[in-house]
Amino acid sequence: MDRIRIVGGQRLNGAIPILGAKNATLPLMIAGLLTEDTLILDNVPRLADVNQLQRILGNHGVDIMIAGKRPGEEPNHGSTLHISAKTIVDTTAPYDLVSRMRASFWVVAPLVARMGGAKVSLPGGCAIGTRPVDLLIMALEKLGAGIEIESGYVIARAPKGLRGGEIVFPKVTVGGTHTALMAASLARGTTVIENAAREPEIGDVADCLNKMGANISGAGTSRIVVEGVARLNGARHSVLPDRIETGTYAIAVAMTGGDVVLQHARPELLQAALDVLAQTGAAVTPTNEGIRITRNGASLDPVEVTTAPFPGFPTDLQAQLMALMTRARGTSHITEAIFENRFMHVQELVRLGARIKLDGDTATIEGVSRLKGAPVMATDLRASVSLVIAALAAEGETTVNRVYHLDRGFERLEEKLGACGAAIQRISD
Ligand code: EPU
Repeated sequence: MDRIRIVGGQRLNGAIPILGAKNATLPLMIAGLLTEDTLILDNVPRLADVNQLQRILGNHGVDIMIAGKRPGEEPNHGSTLHISAKTIVDTTAPYDLVSRMRASFWVVAPLVARMGGAKVSLPGGCAIGTRPVDLLIMALEKLGAGIEIESGYVIARAPKGLRGGEIVFPKVTVGGTHTALMAASLARGTTVIENAAREPEIGDVADCLNKMGANISGAGTSRIVVEGVARLNGARHSVLPDRIETGTYAIAVAMTGGDVVLQHARPELLQAALDVLAQTGAAVTPTNEGIRITRNGASLDPVEVTTAPFPGFPTDLQAQLMALMTRARGTSHITEAIFENRFMHVQELVRLGARIKLDGDTATIEGVSRLKGAPVMATDLRASVSLVIAALAAEGETTVNRVYHLDRGFERLEEKLGACGAAIQRISD
């Protein structure tokens, strides 16, 4: 299993290209199940999660072709996927595939909408909490699907097709909103989704569905209206830039100091996080190319942050911010309000010399003047990258084990940081 070795203390200077968002790519690939025609996705990041979803969709009969490089193409271009779900040969998503990636549960929506039935394994728990799917099931029921749960599988049936309905989410859910949007697009009549998630990835998926012939309005607000259509067609869509990759590298630069342009990044996708970074003392400047982050020798100021659904501070940047605050001059408080147990990074940061106390959903971080390298590992993607951020500022050598978590969500992380001056290296055994 690969490891990443980092020797801390180097400032980051240069440019880092930001690619398409993982959390838009996954639902966009799943949306390919809604049509017999080909859906072409551009700016797709090369990630383990994308490969894994490709295998899962392949099991349903979906052909995915990844276009090779074209002459003159810039090296930091995402890839282009041609997704063709002409014939769906199997409407079952088995446990061994779904348990490896939770978002694959979302295939239930296009399968039941297009094929009238689906049998999809319940995903089970994961490293950041219990993560139930009750609200996704509720949404499908509101659209007329009959749902049974049997031997760990959700069996959804709508032999005569789905019909529009009113879905009121008691809690904001990204997966619930994606599921409702995909199912409602092919339902008869009008669907209204209240308290919808407003994450930019929802808007991106809705844009793509509209290009495929869907009739969705209000995506990006908390009330989405979908007029169902009888069929969807192929389309071509470029995935929006990854706001979590953007925020992660921005925090890394704030941590080490330096001057980096995050190319293709869009500030409006993560304004809350950029505002917090500015409070810590980093300079954040939107430019024609993307976002420029600089910090000179000045010390970092502590912050008080609570994670929230978009447009609030994203839970997917909570661990990274905590790593940054380990070096602040003073005490910070970070409250995790989305997931119940997303603090797997705390004990590992402590191993690097951080002073963090956990009380329920709130971490109190007392800044220290130095961190010291150590072997560490983490059990989820964002926690792993928070350890990389801490290691970049730690004295001496840190080895981050279980790098496959990083590969799920960050393309060529060590190359991108290395190109900006970090002493970072992948070690393959
Ligand atoms: N929830 C329920 N019932 C449900 C669904 C969700 O109670 O049926 C709860 C969850 O337990 C959680 C809250 O609602 O407390 C929000 O969960 P949400 O459904 O919004 O999360 P998700 O769709 O499973 C996506 C991202 C996550 C990201 C969250 C929150 C993808 C593939 N995943 O998950 O990304 O943290 O939204 O923004 O889009 C990551 O990329 O590392 C990651 C975990």
